[in-house]
Amino acid sequence: MTAEVGVIGTGVMGSNLARNLARNLAGRTGARVAVYDRDVDRASALAAEHPEAEFLVASSPADLASKLSGPRVAILMVNAGAATDSAINDLVQVFEPGDIIVDGGNSLFTDTIARGGTVSQAGIEFVGVGISGGEVGALEGPSMMVGGTESAYSRLRPILEPSAARAEPSDVSVEPSAARGVQAERESCIAHVGTDGAGHFVKMIHNGIEYADMQLIAEAFALLRSRLGLTPPEIAEVFREWNRGDLESYLIEITAEVLDHTDAVTGQPFVDVIADSAGAKGTGGWTVKTGLDLGVPVATIAEAVSARSLSAASVLRSSGTALDGPSTAASAIDEARTSADDGAPASAIDDRDMVLETVRQALFTGKVLAYVQGFHEIAAGAQEHGWNTDLGEVARIWRAGCIIRARFLDRITEAYEADPDLSSLLADPHFQDSLNAGQQALRDTVADAAAHGVPIPALASALSYFDGVRASRASAALVQGQRDFFGSHTYARTDRSGTFHTMWSGDRSEVQL
Ligand code: 6PG
Repeated sequence: MTAEVGVIGTGVMGSNLARNLARNLAGRTGARVAVYDRDVDRASALAAEHPEAEFLVASSPADLASKLSGPRVAILMVNAGAATDSAINDLVQVFEPGDIIVDGGNSLFTDTIARGGTVSQAGIEFVGVGISGGEVGALEGPSMMVGGTESAYSRLRPILEPSAARAEPSDVSVEPSAARGVQAERESCIAHVGTDGAGHFVKMIHNGIEYADMQLIAEAFALLRSRLGLTPPEIAEVFREWNRGDLESYLIEITAEVLDHTDAVTGQPFVDVIADSAGAKGTGGWTVKTGLDLGVPVATIAEAVSARSLSAASVLRSSGTALDGPSTAASAIDEARTSADDGAPASAIDDRDMVLETVRQALFTGKVLAYVQGFHEIAAGAQEHGWNTDLGEVARIWRAGCIIRARFLDRITEAYEADPDLSSLLADPHFQDSLNAGQQALRDTVADAAAHGVPIPALASALSYFDGVRASRASAALVQGQRDFFGSHTYARTDRSGTFHTMWSGDRSEVQL
């Protein structure tokens, strides 16, 4: 008896994906799932715990190869890095030309490109697939971002697609009866997003956006707590309310769950007993480093990564406790309210609904700006690597299954459907309207937080990004002048084309180069 697909690595993600595949392939002739783990007992235990999956348990890579029908397909669900290299090496020894090795881990896309080059020398296809959705997603339906060749995708799609998440149809303008087939296909959260490392590249940006989204939400929480004095369960209620509007997303939903949870040991809100130090496995940092390499500004994502680094820098933070906060607790919001109220003193805390609405709009605006940055990076990466990535399709497959799934991703798909050559989401009329509507709230929120000493790095950077792209002239001309002064780095002029240099250490005349 042979299997249609093998899963290598039976940790939580691998086990759950294997079960998902088995469930969704069940009923197809020969469509069994083989599982292999270096710890053979672990794979056997999985099969024993889930007899319904009818797994074929392999005892070695060679045994796995013998259990797979050809051309073989094996999905690696092992840790990124050395474990992935070693598993690939094992498979290359026992696979044959035409077989496909899929890496479903969070590998760095440049590693995927390099591995593809090596593996293809043996005639074996190598496909990096970004799989998002955590443990539950792997079991119930993740979002899958597939790289590799078109022909490998054609072979993989019938195996993977039944296990992918499904989203509501996005195109409500199409007559359901006329488009049922198309709609059914469009609902599945799997897509070929480009060749070689594109799947892992898009997954990396997903994670970068995830970092920004989480940080923005955490900052909104910090503001509501410190400025309105709300308790975590009260803020959970606020997030539940927000989850019924533009902000509807998985991350807002789970935030409410975390904030509503009470610690069983102390009886305190759970969030208050968690040490204030956030971990990171590195994918957010990769997004920022890659953004730097591509020359794409991803400041809000970078601030989210830095905020985690700062949170974990305990020595730095203990020195920081000696530093002063604001000397007056007055912000523009306070001022505005004081004057509107005939000079009667008022504080932001007095007008709860106004503060809530301001922070809600600021959060949404910051989130949109983080996505603008992430999609810019995908476009730049696709151009750099010749991937022909469909950005609307990326937004479409992020609407379900993955961690950043959110209602407003429909809008991104619509923007790219309306104009597939859109240079930036900032050029889309809907996003322009949305940002214009929210910018004042973002401004007020950042000003208020600054006045009161509440750290909000992601919101503040989103605002600076917004003002940076909005300004026809900002601060770069002076930087370019400084560069020319100390390093003869030259400059362009506003009134003439060409490259120029001023003889700073001579008579300060200008030369055209
Ligand atoms: C997903 C998640 C997943 C994982 C991240 C967490 O899309 O399913 O992004 O990949 O949770 O690796 O990353 P950090 O540990 O860096 O927060």
